[in-house]
Parts: sequence; structure tokens; C-alpha cells
Amino acid sequence: MAAAKQARTNPRQLANDVVDSLDIDDLASSVEVAGPGFLNIRLRDDVLGERIANSPLIEKDPTPLRVVIDYSSPNLAKEMHVGHLRSTVIGDAVSRCLELIGHTVIRQNHIGDWGTAFGRLIAYLDDLDDPSAMAAELADIERLYVHASQRFESDAAFADRARSKVIELQSKEPRAMSRWEHVMALAREHMSDIYARLDIALKPGDIRGESAYNDDLAPLIEELENHEGLVSESEGALCIFMPQFKTKAGDTQPMLIRKSDGGYLYHTTDLAALKYRTETLHADRVMYFTDARQILHFEMLFAAARLGKLVNENTSLEHHHFGKILGGDGKPFKTRAGDNILLRDLIDEAIERSTQTIETKNPDLDADRRADVIDAVAIGAVKYADLSKNRLHDYTFDWDEMLAFDGNTAPYLQYAYARISGIFEKGEVNPTDCKVPPVLNTAVEHQLAVHLLRFQEVIEQVATDAKPHYLCAYLYELTVRFMRFYEQCPILSETGSTKDGRLTLCARTGATLKTGLATLGIRVLTTM
Ligand code: ARG
Repeated sequence: MAAAKQARTNPRQLANDVVDSLDIDDLASSVEVAGPGFLNIRLRDDVLGERIANSPLIEKDPTPLRVVIDYSSPNLAKEMHVGHLRSTVIGDAVSRCLELIGHTVIRQNHIGDWGTAFGRLIAYLDDLDDPSAMAAELADIERLYVHASQRFESDAAFADRARSKVIELQSKEPRAMSRWEHVMALAREHMSDIYARLDIALKPGDIRGESAYNDDLAPLIEELENHEGLVSESEGALCIFMPQFKTKAGDTQPMLIRKSDGGYLYHTTDLAALKYRTETLHADRVMYFTDARQILHFEMLFAAARLGKLVNENTSLEHHHFGKILGGDGKPFKTRAGDNILLRDLIDEAIERSTQTIETKNPDLDADRRADVIDAVAIGAVKYADLSKNRLHDYTFDWDEMLAFDGNTAPYLQYAYARISGIFEKGEVNPTDCKVPPVLNTAVEHQLAVHLLRFQEVIEQVATDAKPHYLCAYLYELTVRFMRFYEQCPILSETGSTKDGRLTLCARTGATLKTGLATLGIRVLTTM
């Protein structure tokens, strides 16, 4: 219709002209003009059937990129909590999606491992001169976190000592450094445990925390100062003024890169990290996943990095932000006492609730498969609830909704996969042997086939926009279409090519569900 407007003609007339000059008989069985000028193209069933049977699930991108993905990146002076969930889960899904279509993904876990918050942990350890008390504290980082912050809140002299520890850290005083290293080793272990329980692909080798850039900061400032007019001094501090960033009062809002006391900032470290990602990691594309409160930080970061020529002109810099997780009351999701919900507690509760669900749904499940099913359903439900929503919006955390076996939920999709596995088990057929093209002589088969062949397109969309909810919506629709087919079309009771073709449809659906869910970081099960 837009084209008709440009050509100053009637859209229906233009549509008819297009149909007359189309030559797609090898793909389409009919093309019709509909309504004000739409084209309805009906794909040929034999072409669809052939592709369902023989085309690869995914074709790799012919021009793979090097993509650096900064996600999860928790501040580790505190225990990991629900505020870290979205970046971790969404960043992980997008990374897997890019890998699936052949890009080189370099994960960067930019952990907060430096700065004032570590002073209290070090001061707390210092105060325990009894080696066995220290050992007990270090055996359980979660306890250390709680004890140190309680002391910090309640004891002013301790708070002062904590502050002086920060200075010792900054001047690399050996005792403070060794305590810091000790604490960090434990904190990293705590983080790895959480990742393992959540099936997150981040590995210790992906960690490059803020402290890794400490030695780069002074030379970086020098480099930026060499750009005529870029860095200015203001009340002893170093700033970059960029006219597009204004305060509410209308003044230019400076980007602070060194404080008047010589200290560096979150911005400064991120500039150094960006330089590293371009120069050393050779990124074509750098993607960051944080909540929407950091929009301005990243806008300034990208603008300054371009002005300071820290990145190549064609390097794509992308901040993919997301909304908040809300509780049932519409406020940010917290404990009743108003504290952050810890990820380990959240995971424990997910397992507990999944256990109840599985016990009611399938009380006869084999004991040796039970734990696996409970775990996959619990973790799948939590991740899928997040991934299935447009990340730009806030969403409400709702246990009953995410664990439901119907609707757009992980258990619904996992259950469909288990059903498909059941068909193959019962029929004693190996799905990878199914090569007979389906005939698609019913509407539900045709609709299932068309949808199956859109998988590649959806994966590419997720890779471009970093929005995993496209893939969730696709997999949900796939499952709905499969269930319609399954209810209306007999499979194992058929014979010959009808049976074989329908088994091919089942096999392709199973493979798509499995790959799709794996791309979201969610496991499938052959029994549930
Ligand atoms: N540690 C930061 C936080 O918890 C997130 C870091 C995101 N990555 C980055 N390169 N700034 O808010």
C-alpha cells in the first residue's frame, strides 16, 4: 500500500499487476489479492514437506561477527539477589542465540570486585583475629556478607575502619590485598554456584571484573587528554562535556572521569573496558545488559568512546536495557521485610514449588528421574517467565503463573516435548531417522509446517534486537499448533507414508523445541 501511494495508483490495481508478473510457481500453489491490496501467498505443500524433511534447522550466518556480550556482571560485595536475575538470564539467552547462528561470542562478566563496598568485608575479617573464627567466616561467604553489613550499620567506629581499608586497598597494601583476594575467591565461588544451579553458561574464564582495569585507568586518561578539547578540568575533577547531555536546569551535564581526590569512577572503568574489547578482543559488536537506570551511563559512555576514538567507527555499541521485576503488590519484588530476595532463596523456593507441582501432576514418576524433572521445571519456569516478556517492560513475578502446565510457560513447552518423545518411544522409532516428507493434507498439518519453517527467521530477529520474547512467543505458538495437529491427526495408528510423514512432522517439532529451549537456557525432558 505504501508502494501504491508512491506510484500514485490504486493499491488493488498495483497488487494485481504484481500478481501478473510474479513467477513463484515453484514455491506457491496460489497467489490472491485480498482486501484493499494484500497478497495472500499459499505455499505449496510438497515444497513445505520437502523442507520439513530435509532442510537444516538452522543455517549459519555467512558473515559471522565477533560479539562481546557483557551480562550478569554483579557487584560482589553483596550476595547475589533478584536484581541480578534479568541481566543474567536475558544476556545468557541472547549469547546462545548468537552462537546458534554462527557468531563468535565472547562473554564478559564485568563483576564489581573493587571499590568502597569491599572495605567493610576486609575490616570485618581484620577484627576477627582468632584464626578459627576467621576460618568459619570464610567458609560461608553468605554469613560474612550479613555480619559485615550488620556491623557497618550499627558500629560507627567500625564504619570508619572500613573506610580506611578502602584506602589501603587502593594503595595495594599487602595485608588488605590478600584479604581482598581471599574474599573475592569465595565470592566468585558463590557466583559460580548460582550460575550452575541456574544453567547459566558463564564460566570463570569469562570474568573480567572492574579490578582488571585498575592499571589501565591512568594511561587511559592520558590518552583522552591528548584529544584536543575533549577533557576539561572542573573544580579539580576531570570531565568530558558533551553538549547533547543536559541537566534538568539546561546546563551541560559533565561525564566525570576522575574525581578531585584522584579516584576513578564507574564510567572510567567502562571506558577502559571498551578499549580492551575493541583493541584486544576485536569486537564488531558490543552488547550490554543492565536495567534501565543505566541508560544515561551507557549513552555517555558510547558518545565519549567515539569522541576519544577508543572504538572503531563501525563497531556497534548497544545497551539493551530492561524493566523491573515487581511483586504481587506492584512494587519492586522484595521480601516481606523489604530486603532484596537472594537468588539462592529464590532457587530453593522454585525447587520446592516445582516439587509440589510434579508430585500432584505425576505422582508415579520414577524416583531416579524425579529430581531431574523437578529441577528442569523449576529453573525453566523462572527463566522463561522473564524471557517471555518484552524486556523493555516491568513484569510481575508470579509463581503460580510460571509453573502452570498451560499457557505461555516453560512447563507447557517441556511437557509438549516429553509428549513428542513419548510418541517415538511408543512407536519404537528414532526421530533422527524420519526423512519421509509429510503430505500435509489437513489444514492443521499445513499450519504446523509453515510455522516450523519460520524458526531461522525468529532466531535472527532475536540476535538482531536482543529480545528473547520473540523466540518464546514462537515456541509457544509452535506448541499450540502441534497440539492441534496431535489431537486431530492420528500418527502411530496410521500406516505407510501418512504415518512416516506425520512422524517427520513430530521429529521436526521436537528438534525445534529442544533447540529453541536450549537457546533460552532451558532443558527439555523425555518424561515428565
Ligand atoms: N556491576 C554493575 C551493576 O551491578 C553492572 C555492570 C554492567 N556492565 C558494565 N560494563 N558496566 O549495576
